[in-house]
Amino acid sequence: MSILESIRIVNKGDVALVEWDLIGEKVNKLSSPVMARLKEVIEELGKSSYKAVVFISRKPKIFIAGADIDEIKNMTEKEQILKVVKAGQEIINMVEDLKIPTIAAINGACLGGGCEFALSCDYRIATDDSSTKIGLPETQLGLIPGFGGCVRLPKLIGVQNALDIILAGKAVSTDKALKMGLVDKKTHVASLEEKAIDFANEVIKNGAKKSRKCFQAKGLSNQVLESFAGRFLVFKMAKKSVLSLTKGHYPAPLKALEVIKKTIGKNRAGALAIEAEGFAEVCATGVSKNLIHVFYMMESVKKTTGVNDKTVKARNVGSVGIMGAGTMGGGIAFVAAGNAGLEVRMKDINHDAIAKGMQAAKKLWDKQLERRKIDKYAEERNLAHLSGGLDYSGFGRLDVVIEAIVEDMNVKKKVIAETAKYCKPDAIIATNTSSLSVSEMGEAHPKPENFVGMHFFNPVDKMPLVEVIRGKNTSDEVVATIFELSKKMGKTPVVVKDGPGFLVNRLLLPWLSEALFFLADNMDIETVDRIYAKKFGMPMGPFHLIDEIGIDVCLKVLKIFNNALGERAPLPPVYEKLYQTKRLGKKGGKGFYIYEGKNKRVDPAIYDELGVGNPKNKHDEKEIIERGVYRMINEAALVLIEEKIVETPSEVDLGMIMGTGFPPFRGGLLRYADSLGTQHITDELEILASKFGTRFKPTQALANLAKSQRGFYS
Ligand SMILES: NC(=O)c1ccc[n+]([C@@H]2O[C@H](COP(=O)([O-])OP(=O)(O)OC[C@H]3O[C@@H](n4cnc5c(N)ncnc54)[C@H](O)[C@@H]3O)[C@@H](O)[C@H]2O)c1
Repeated sequence: MSILESIRIVNKGDVALVEWDLIGEKVNKLSSPVMARLKEVIEELGKSSYKAVVFISRKPKIFIAGADIDEIKNMTEKEQILKVVKAGQEIINMVEDLKIPTIAAINGACLGGGCEFALSCDYRIATDDSSTKIGLPETQLGLIPGFGGCVRLPKLIGVQNALDIILAGKAVSTDKALKMGLVDKKTHVASLEEKAIDFANEVIKNGAKKSRKCFQAKGLSNQVLESFAGRFLVFKMAKKSVLSLTKGHYPAPLKALEVIKKTIGKNRAGALAIEAEGFAEVCATGVSKNLIHVFYMMESVKKTTGVNDKTVKARNVGSVGIMGAGTMGGGIAFVAAGNAGLEVRMKDINHDAIAKGMQAAKKLWDKQLERRKIDKYAEERNLAHLSGGLDYSGFGRLDVVIEAIVEDMNVKKKVIAETAKYCKPDAIIATNTSSLSVSEMGEAHPKPENFVGMHFFNPVDKMPLVEVIRGKNTSDEVVATIFELSKKMGKTPVVVKDGPGFLVNRLLLPWLSEALFFLADNMDIETVDRIYAKKFGMPMGPFHLIDEIGIDVCLKVLKIFNNALGERAPLPPVYEKLYQTKRLGKKGGKGFYIYEGKNKRVDPAIYDELGVGNPKNKHDEKEIIERGVYRMINEAALVLIEEKIVETPSEVDLGMIMGTGFPPFRGGLLRYADSLGTQHITDELEILASKFGTRFKPTQALANLAKSQRGFYS
């Protein structure tokens, strides 16, 4: 079989059925050889006597997933990129220029280049299968649509709708696409081919018209929006919203906006030339390469099992128990019953807690229902999966029990030993502890190989990371099972070794702790937070985050780290006084900020209470960023290279992005470190250590990398 077989013409009378089925690939994608083959097919169709053509995929749940990112990821020269994208545009133009009507019969993912291909067809029929998603996700990879998407989509569905899809990198369901005019007809999967061919024959019967659709705005408000003045307003608002969302860190949505604005009203050649230029510009940026790196890390999680031994298989999990129906238990119940569709049994020592836990899950499903993410039937099914009580009834048939009770080693050990008595002999017990040793806790389990850590982040419904913690006795099979279970729950798992704070909290704590040193150094709370959130790109600054987590919790963890790591994790000078203020953070209404309804403002009294005097007005942005971020990088060197908490720099980066919101446009903590150079970071840390103390002393692991002129990835 060759590439010739990947796109083949099948005779259906007057209609040519063109089947896409890339040999040796799980998905159809537009690589250079595929584009060359498409060109041949279009030339053949041009010379044929067919009267219409239907393009269909033979891959389950995939029409065409997009361009080949493998090719894009290594392209850095603008001229080289322009050549490739222009060649692609020409082939897509050939599809559009075929004299006979063309129909895209879409089932499954029709994304990026695949969507642009479908846009060049005259008609689009899509299935009502939930896998069918049509859209242009390029901006999520720091790119813009380059095969005519910026030009053809606004023409077909109007500027407002096109901006919605392109700027957010969105894909829409068939129903939504139908409403927008992005598809012409909806059908069932089983009858897609038949319906598409019938449709083609109908078009032939009616004169084989090519469709040259131009968006006709329906309704007064749409007509106003699509008028000249309306568009001006639409572009202005879109730019404002992009800037507020991206804080200027992501160039692609702005470039897409500029391209769409410039190309409206231009002829095809002129418009596509502008689009190609725009594509080449963003494709060559480091941001795009970083976002592609993040994409690959996410893809690799989908393909891996969490263990190196490929013969190990995850066990089937159909039901889970949750011990403790509090903040975390309620969230875990929501993802277990909803996302994973598992039977869930909650147990607590308190009736109210059970009711609250179930209520918390229901509230989240209500929200999904409101946003039409699920329907009423799905909510009822999820609720039916959920039950709870104060005793162990039902535990005898559970496959996995997740423990989310108070953070106390003795209580947890007692509860684990007791729970094991009521479970099947091979049931897995997983702890959601955030700071206690999984290996030590596992000693309470009669079969410690069946004990593991499963560390969710708060709030569970929003935070995508789960750290799967391998205790010293945890078996490979159990790690693989919890890794797979996390994915089933819609989470991104990273396997980590046991150790203080595991991976993410271990690296985040130095950053949070440094914020308290900033206070002692007379820095202003709001400025520090703003520099990190706006300038560096963290979702929120360290003081804001400490308030969110709870000052009491953070102080407790700082102490644990101080005990475990000594001089690398000293207690900040304001530690004792902060403790004495009894400020709790957001949950108590007052922390570094005062919380009033949805608003928050720095509490000016805090500086006096901590005895640090009025903050200075002038701040060195570079110093603020470096003191926090370089401490994280320094710790990461130790965690990765010496302690081997994780095996690869990608796991550090994925963990930090998914667990803390470390800015994806920077590619992750260690990719960011590599972009600066390990030698540079080591030198700067030496300077910081001489000024501020040994907590900045470069670790041997980092110094060795610098000495051998290596980065974390190279
Ligand atoms: N809250 C967070 O941000 C967060 C994040 C990650 C991990 N964790 C960890 O998750 C665990 C739970 O934290 P939380 O914030 O949900 O606490 P929580 O106080 O909100 O809930 C704990 C629940 O456990 C119940 N409980 C106590 N003893 C029990 C027992 N013997 N049997 C059954 N239920 C019992 C309590 O009644 C309560 O409902 C802790 O180990 C914590 O460290 C918390």
